[in-house]
Amino acid sequence: MDKKVWQWQRTINSQTFLLSSNRTLLPHAFVQESFATEDMYWARPMSSDQLRTMLSNSLTTGVYLISPDNTTTPVGMARIITDYITFAYLTDVYLQPSYRALGLGTWLIQCCREIVLEMPALRSLVLLTGSEQAAKLYRKELGMQLLEEEDTALTCMRARRATLADAASAAGPIPQDEPEATDA
Ligand SMILES: CC(C)(COP(=O)(O)OP(=O)(O)OC[C@H]1O[C@@H](n2cnc3c(N)ncnc32)[C@H](O)[C@@H]1OP(=O)(O)O)[C@@H](O)C(=O)NCCC(=O)NCCS
Repeated sequence: MDKKVWQWQRTINSQTFLLSSNRTLLPHAFVQESFATEDMYWARPMSSDQLRTMLSNSLTTGVYLISPDNTTTPVGMARIITDYITFAYLTDVYLQPSYRALGLGTWLIQCCREIVLEMPALRSLVLLTGSEQAAKLYRKELGMQLLEEEDTALTCMRARRATLADAASAAGPIPQDEPEATDA
């Protein structure tokens, strides 16, 4: 499934847009610039090596404006971190300001829904959001619910890097056996 390329196309106000998971279409500079915007307050630009690793380990859908000469210009993205079978985490949903309120955000989320619905043993699609408007969109298009509404037996937990590091310092080194001496 991870070799599959998902692709959709639609025209809005005489502008044609492509939504594609084709990795080769997505310029890394677009992701870095998007991560640097205040709109993506949860993200930060990173080294090019880190970005390459991040993108090669996730399924990223880009939204592109197609010019009459077939050039694709990126205008948005959404990233799905997944094992392609059981679990998907949706993050980094973004459209450049001049392409908002056209229905492209809804389309992007609907296409992500189609991709995730193909996962054969999907247990959960999960996301975090700080935006009430985005939460409304996710409820409508993805059937997203707060965990306590859906299943009181489950708790949603998370650790930021700092709390994870604090837990590691409090716990000390991981117990492990000394390597056995081997005869030379
Ligand atoms: C989220 C986002 C991709 C939606 O794109 P869009 O092009 O405005 O989406 P649509 O035109 O399809 O509109 C869908 C709905 O999303 C709402 N919306 C969702 N998130 C929003 C946000 N962060 N800011 C403004 N509106 C948002 C719109 O108000 C609209 O609601 P309506 O249908 O009741 O009018 C876009 O607003 C964006 O990039 N925001 C900045 C990044 C962000 O906040 N991402 C989500 C983080 S969880």
